[in-house]
Amino acid sequence: MYNLPSLDVVKTFSSVAILTSGGDAPGMNAAIRGAVRSALHHNITVYGVQRGFSGLLQDDMEPLNSSSVSNIVQRGGTFLKSARCPEFHTTESRALAANILQRRGIEALIVIGGDGSLTGAHLFEEETGIPVIGLPGTIDNDIFGTEDTIGFDTAMNTALDAIDRIRDTADSHERHFLVEVMGRNSGFLATHVGIAAGAEMILVPEHAINIEEVALQLVTSHRSGMGSSGIIVVAEGNKPDLTHNIAQQLQQHGFTPHVSILGHIQRGGTPSGHDRVLASCLGAIAIDFLLAGYSDIMVGVSDGAVVDVPLDDLIRYRKGLDPELLKIALQLHK
Ligand code: F6P
Repeated sequence: MYNLPSLDVVKTFSSVAILTSGGDAPGMNAAIRGAVRSALHHNITVYGVQRGFSGLLQDDMEPLNSSSVSNIVQRGGTFLKSARCPEFHTTESRALAANILQRRGIEALIVIGGDGSLTGAHLFEEETGIPVIGLPGTIDNDIFGTEDTIGFDTAMNTALDAIDRIRDTADSHERHFLVEVMGRNSGFLATHVGIAAGAEMILVPEHAINIEEVALQLVTSHRSGMGSSGIIVVAEGNKPDLTHNIAQQLQQHGFTPHVSILGHIQRGGTPSGHDRVLASCLGAIAIDFLLAGYSDIMVGVSDGAVVDVPLDDLIRYRKGLDPELLKIALQLHK
């Protein structure tokens, strides 16, 4: 359980809007439910916006009541739907979105999404003055200022379940597998999954991949009698076909690894208990932060406490992979 902030009510709101944006993440529904039920407790109407910022620009929203969010805490995905919205990158479209909210008398916006979505939320607040609260919703867990994000735990367990199965067949056939997990720009998921799966190697975008070194490590573990089979976890990175390319290059060193791309199964499925509690708390507390007069912040987790992080910081700073964690990962599969 988290240490929750104690916040005084200094403002009133009659209605706010909520949307989910970017890649969906298990637990987003629990976060929406948390915010809606908490808002209703304070007599605030919550408008659920369809398909993220795209739906906002089309004025596609309707008020949610308590039963609108019944029976969703256990469901993956997001019942409000999600989308990536390049249109929202322009000042003009953000002004249009503000107009749409103002016409409906909506006084604040809650955005659940990853760093791209929260950057859009920050610019929206800065340019229009409409209060915004962000919630970290991404399986990547790569958002600055929070050690956890909604969906990360579930995605990690989904990937682990798959890798445990792959391990059985890798072991039976004495094969090596390159297993690709999601993470275009960050290796958080890959590192955690790799440690928990007992992977022989973990390749992440934060460190340049040296094929000679990978091959040498495979040869060394083979000689020591440990390496007739193995799992190498690869973060997808931002180069197309990265994992297949690594496999091809390893063939030139005499290895014929099989490739398994886990893909979008990592984004779907029933949220874990951890993600449900995290999302429910962050959703509910988003309303408390609004009522306490906060704006332009993300509600995150640091040292076991729920904290507010200025959205501006998300743009200025990058969350780095903990070098100690990588060191442990290296030590464990020596
Ligand atoms: O940001 C979440 C994420 O799942 C990344 O890990 C992945 O690189 C990306 O989204 C995939 O996005 P899309 O589903 O739009 O292809």
